[in-house]
Amino acid sequence: MEIVVVADFEEMSERAAADIITLLNEKPDSLISLAAGSTPTGTLNRLVEAQSQEKVDFSQAIFVGLDEWVGMDRTDEGSTQHYLYDTFFLPAQIREDQIFFFDAKAADLEQECQKIDRLIEEHSGLDLVLLGIGVNGHLGLNEPGVSLELTSHVMDLSETTKQVGQKYFAQETKLVRGITLGCQHFVDADKVILIANGEAKAKAVAGMVQGEITSDLPASVLQKHMNAIGYIDQAAASLLEQAQ
Ligand code: GLP
Repeated sequence: MEIVVVADFEEMSERAAADIITLLNEKPDSLISLAAGSTPTGTLNRLVEAQSQEKVDFSQAIFVGLDEWVGMDRTDEGSTQHYLYDTFFLPAQIREDQIFFFDAKAADLEQECQKIDRLIEEHSGLDLVLLGIGVNGHLGLNEPGVSLELTSHVMDLSETTKQVGQKYFAQETKLVRGITLGCQHFVDADKVILIANGEAKAKAVAGMVQGEITSDLPASVLQKHMNAIGYIDQAAASLLEQAQ
C-alpha cells in the first residue's frame, strides 16, 4: 500500500476523484464499489462535476454497494444507499440497471451475500473500491475481530460503530448489524483507494500502515495490496512516523 499525505480534505478529494476518472477513462465498464460516510462527499461531488463537464462517462460502469445497516434501505435517511443516491447516483444520472445493493431488509441475508458475491465473480472481481476507514480501523462494516478472508457477510457492530454511526441519523437510531463486502474482496480488487481525514482517524491510520496485519484492525489487511493507495490528510496522518 502506498500512502500519500495531503494537505486537507480538498486535496484528498481532488486526488481520489482524479484517480477514479483516470481508471474510468481506461476501463469505462469498471465494477466499482463506493463507500458512504462523511469522508467521500468531496470526492463524489467532484465526480459528478467531472461527468457534467464530460471529463468522464459513468454510463457503462456497474456499481455494487459496499455495506448497509441491516434493516435499512434507500428510504431510510442515514442508510448508505440513501447517501449514495443523493450524493452520486441521482446527480450523476446513474441508471437503476447499473446499481446493485445488498437488500439489508431481506429475510434471508445469507442469500443477499451470495447474490453480491456472484455478481462480483461474474465480473471477474472489483476494478475499484473507494474506502473510508472507521475510527476503530474498520473497512465497510468489517469490524475488529472479523476474519480477513471473508467475502460478503453479516456482522455484529462494535459499540464504537453503533455510537459513531449516530452521526448519519437525525434521531437516535438502533444499529445492531451490518451487511458488507468482505476484506477478501478488497484484497482481490484491482485497485483500492482509501481516504481519511481528521484527527479522529489518526490512530486507525497509524495502525493500518505501521502495525501488523491483524483482524483487530481490519484496514491493516490493505498492507497486502499491491495497488492500494491511501490519501490521508495531515491531521489523519499525524501519528504516522514519517509525518512527524
Ligand atoms: C462507516 C461506514 C464505512 C465508512 C466508515 C467511515 O461506518 N460503514 O463504509 O467508510 O465508517 O465513515 P466516515 O467517512 O463517515 O468517517
